[in-house]
Amino acid sequence: WGGCAALPTVELKIEVVLPEKERGKEELSASGKGSPRAYQGNGTARHFHTEERLPTPHPYPSPQDCVEAAVCHVKDLENGQMREVELGWGKVLLVKDNGEFHALGHKCPHYGAPLVKGVLSRGRVRCPWHGACFNISTGDLEDFPGLDSLHKFQVKIEKEKVYVRASKQALQLQRRTKVMAKCISPSAGYSGSTNVLIVGAGAAGLVCAETLRQEGFSDRIVLCTLDRHLPYDRPKLSKSLDTQPEQLALRPKEFFRAYGIEVLTEAQVVTVDVRNKKVVFKDGFKLEYSKLLLAPGSSPKTLSCKGKEVENVFTIRTPEDANRVVRLARGRNVVVVGAGFLGMEVAAYLTEKAHSVSVVELEETPFRRFLGERVGRALMKMFENNRVKFYMQTEVSELRAQEGKLKEVVLKSSKVVRADVCVVGIGAVPATGFLKQSGISLDSRGFIPVNKMMQTNVPGVFAAGDAVTFPLAWRNNRKVNIPHWQMAHAQGRVAAQNMLAQEAEISTVPYLWTAMFGKSLRYTGYGESFDDVIIQGDLEELKFVAFYTKGDEVIAVASMNYDPIVSKVAEVLASGLWVTGDMSWLTGKGS
Ligand SMILES: Cc1cc2nc3c(=O)[nH]c(=O)nc-3n(C[C@H](O)[C@H](O)[C@H](O)COP(=O)(O)OP(=O)(O)OC[C@H]3O[C@@H](n4cnc5c(N)ncnc54)[C@H](O)[C@@H]3O)c2cc1C
Ligand SMILES: *[C@@H]1O[C@H](CO)[C@@H](O)[C@H](O)[C@H]1NC(C)=O
Ligand SMILES: *[C@@H]1O[C@H](CO)[C@@H](O)[C@H](O)[C@H]1NC(C)=O
Ligand code: FES
Repeated sequence: WGGCAALPTVELKIEVVLPEKERGKEELSASGKGSPRAYQGNGTARHFHTEERLPTPHPYPSPQDCVEAAVCHVKDLENGQMREVELGWGKVLLVKDNGEFHALGHKCPHYGAPLVKGVLSRGRVRCPWHGACFNISTGDLEDFPGLDSLHKFQVKIEKEKVYVRASKQALQLQRRTKVMAKCISPSAGYSGSTNVLIVGAGAAGLVCAETLRQEGFSDRIVLCTLDRHLPYDRPKLSKSLDTQPEQLALRPKEFFRAYGIEVLTEAQVVTVDVRNKKVVFKDGFKLEYSKLLLAPGSSPKTLSCKGKEVENVFTIRTPEDANRVVRLARGRNVVVVGAGFLGMEVAAYLTEKAHSVSVVELEETPFRRFLGERVGRALMKMFENNRVKFYMQTEVSELRAQEGKLKEVVLKSSKVVRADVCVVGIGAVPATGFLKQSGISLDSRGFIPVNKMMQTNVPGVFAAGDAVTFPLAWRNNRKVNIPHWQMAHAQGRVAAQNMLAQEAEISTVPYLWTAMFGKSLRYTGYGESFDDVIIQGDLEELKFVAFYTKGDEVIAVASMNYDPIVSKVAEVLASGLWVTGDMSWLTGKGS
């Protein structure tokens, strides 16, 4: 891979990004305490999931718990090569880089992709499925999605043979949670002041909390959420609608207890008072903070047509929404409004359960603005082959009910479609209404603008995730909103680092995926306002790479059945290089 940059057909442009001179750094020492302020909490202690703190067991492997074996000859691998090798009952990923061998867990802790099929570049391996990156020297997670790192195993070379030694437990687990501090603040649980308050327990909020603990922060952290659940895997909601909330949890309850991360469920923040550093919850409970992270994500848009209040019309935001839709859709007629990612995933999932599935969309083809006309059409065909009916270039004018329950969806085209359940996936707006009077800037669309350090206009107040616009380093620091699962993780981490004055900047390359009928589409870059799409491979067969270009630059890439091309491009973009001109070196053999 390293040799690719030297191919003569490639034009590469190097982007030099100078650190912005911005507001002074935010200070919050790893051990320092926020000033203790008396604010009596009020009746909400029942919401706290962290009442006691348990030590987490960290068993140290004894020699009999380890396996050691020769796994190959030193010449079996070239530099820059990876291989999966057997060890005991398990497997490890063996990597040769700069003449040195590294042995790591072989499965991505996110969804279990085989990392040997990923991309090795600049001392890290990038997952072929959704782009997570791991440092080959440490196994540490360096880019998202996912929360855990890889185990790193001992390697030694003897008589030209490569030996790997690993604990059996590590081989079995295939994931490693980074070492984290625990909360030592005596106030945990009931008082009304906290050091770090995180509004939103989604991807950004959770990663912020975990990063603080990983970096040794041992004061009080409170996460709050509208949900009834601990943080969960939101992208699964629309891909696997009948998954139960417990199976969606990103971390078990014991985890939050062990590390003293308090989660306030069903706790809606209604006002933020930045002058007194205090937030107010809907039930009147107040909480002071030293540092605040705003990570409220977005709220789904709903229909505003006649009959919008009838029963059995849903947006998909929570496990309850998703579970209810499947229950009601079994054997019935479903109409999905909106042919974007969410709507199309739901439509695909329901084809096997429902009697009929129809999709209503304003545009001519699904995903058009994101993926372009040709890719959209190819995907549409896949849906049609699976009995999904499309009503394009029209919208819903009325929802008709019988005894209060949805019966028919009437379209602007005056067509009437039978429907027992309707799922609305027409986009989302930032859930920032509660900030309107706060003095924290919002842009005209309601997003919270932040700088590269995820700082808002108010010192000590950070924001991350779907609710922000931020400067995208490799697109000339254009202020953008990128509502991806991976991006929310990355921004949550940067916010935490800056709360600890580590001066981190957001530089991750956007990476997105969607899954329909067992096929995954992967996407990296930022393709808004692309002016051309170059397709390689076979669209009909759904085995293709699509390069989205603006001028002569590739600004985004999508692919299906062509791994790990998207991860490769993400690595090029992450290295500060831009892809221009001839792309054959990326898709060609041996590159
Ligand atoms: C169904 C679905 C499928 C998706 N699939 C994918 C996918 O396949 N790939 C992908 O990259 N992205 C996907 N996304 C997008 C992805 O989930 C988001 O980008 C990501 O969750 C954003 O993280 P966040 O932390 O900003 O916000 P969220 O994860 O939305 O979390 C927001 C949190 O804030 C809380 N909150 C909001 N307002 C308040 C308030 N006033 N007081 C207290 N708490 C509040 C909420 O309860 C929630 O806990 C999907 C989104 C949905 C809805
Ligand atoms: C991997 O980790 C090592 C040790 O912490 C560090 O020196 C190196 O820079 C990291 N590599 C990458 C690619 O981040
Ligand atoms: C507790 O909150 C309720 C409103 O939910 C309020 O009426 C009451 O006065 C509060 N009590 C204290 C001690 O703050
Ligand atoms: S499986 Fe590796 S990033 Fe998702």
